[in-house]
Amino acid sequence: MKKYFIETWGCQMNEEDSEKLSGMLKAMGYEVTDNKKEADIIVFNTCCVRENAELKVYGNIGALKQLKKKKPDLVIAVCGCMMQQENIAENIRKKYPFVSLIFGTHNLHKFPQLVNNAMQSQNTVIEVLESSDEIVEGVPIVRESSVKALVTIMYGCNNFCTYCIVPHVRGREKSRNPQDIVDEVRQLAQVGYKEITLLGQNVNSYGRGLSEEIDFAGLLKLLNNTEGIERIRFMTSHPKDLSENLIYAMRDLCNVCKHIHLPIQSGSTRILNLMNRKYTKEKYLDLALRLKKEVPGISITTDIIVGFPGETEEDFNETLDIVKQVEFDSAFTFLYSPRPGTPAYDIKEQVDENIKHERFNKLVDLLNSIGLKKNKAYENKIVKVLIEGLSKNYESKLMGRTDTGKLVNVNTDDKSLIGRVINVKITEALTWSLNGIPV
Ligand code: 5AD
Ligand code: SF4
Repeated sequence: MKKYFIETWGCQMNEEDSEKLSGMLKAMGYEVTDNKKEADIIVFNTCCVRENAELKVYGNIGALKQLKKKKPDLVIAVCGCMMQQENIAENIRKKYPFVSLIFGTHNLHKFPQLVNNAMQSQNTVIEVLESSDEIVEGVPIVRESSVKALVTIMYGCNNFCTYCIVPHVRGREKSRNPQDIVDEVRQLAQVGYKEITLLGQNVNSYGRGLSEEIDFAGLLKLLNNTEGIERIRFMTSHPKDLSENLIYAMRDLCNVCKHIHLPIQSGSTRILNLMNRKYTKEKYLDLALRLKKEVPGISITTDIIVGFPGETEEDFNETLDIVKQVEFDSAFTFLYSPRPGTPAYDIKEQVDENIKHERFNKLVDLLNSIGLKKNKAYENKIVKVLIEGLSKNYESKLMGRTDTGKLVNVNTDDKSLIGRVINVKITEALTWSLNGIPV
């Protein structure tokens, strides 16, 4: 049997796209391998949200030159967000002529046909569409996990935060039909999935532009009673669109997890304005307090960018201040990376790299100490954990998550527990995870 290897960079949206690529490859008769050397087709699904993600991709493509020399029939395909940027596809063709196929984010479903075209061509086949209004349903999919599934509910983004390349490479916002989502989730439940994560760049604006009158809270209500699905997660939420209805849905719907990923990006209203985020520090704080009041025990996680152009010490102190006030459970922190084609790229006053790193380290220290304190509150408590599989950090332990999204390593090797929600007593809290025993 012919074999395929896929490497994925970037967000969960890309992960789901790669699961679709796997589904199509399987339907074409390929089986997966985790060893590039034995693959007949290698796919790199790329990300361009920060420069370092792009550099890694170039390094990985370059490293395939020798393999292709030894194995001339090897198909090398490069796809994803990076390919949607101007000149990138052409540059890759010039610099790495051994790449067989380049395609973008809007024609993923045409992958089998594109592979055939590439196999019959001596030159690199390039097909990158500028945009697409179409949502293609029914693409086969092979998922990484058999317990939890990613389900994209909307594509693209209309927000144009000034630092962000995503709207430029993923196009305008498009919501899937609610019935298609309900059907997919039902099918997932039927084959044993217990948890779904609804994906979109900004799930709070789900439903805009659909003929049917529905918002994100309404979609959660539709999905909440799916028999067999015990947990519903979602990401990402933009603070400017977080509705009262969504807060009530999180409070009232029993299967919706008590966790929200609510990127703040900066604590300085001045910087938030420059970022085109359309909320103030005070508005964000207000939202966080409302969430904590209405959904007791909720965990709030976030994304923060350090060193946006023009960020002063004062602005950065505002970020530290809101982190202390909200007490985030955890955060993804990023050094600002200038992306060509975005408005922030042209701002002259870039922050000095050393200062950026200093601020970054200070922020991470603060987040870690708050994260540990929040995790300590779980010690000696009994929590419900959905067991996902074997622990990555400990042999002979299983791992799972609380409904608040905390990773728990559970002291048992009883694999029959995988896919079940069990009671676990937390025995030890660490900064990034909890340890516990089944009770
Ligand atoms: N530089 C650094 N971080 C970025 N993000 C998006 N664009 C950039 C950039 N140019 C971060 C944001 C976003 C997350 C997915 O990536 O914090 O929420
Ligand atoms: Fe990028 Fe902003 Fe859209 Fe998120 S909401 S994808 S940060 S433009």
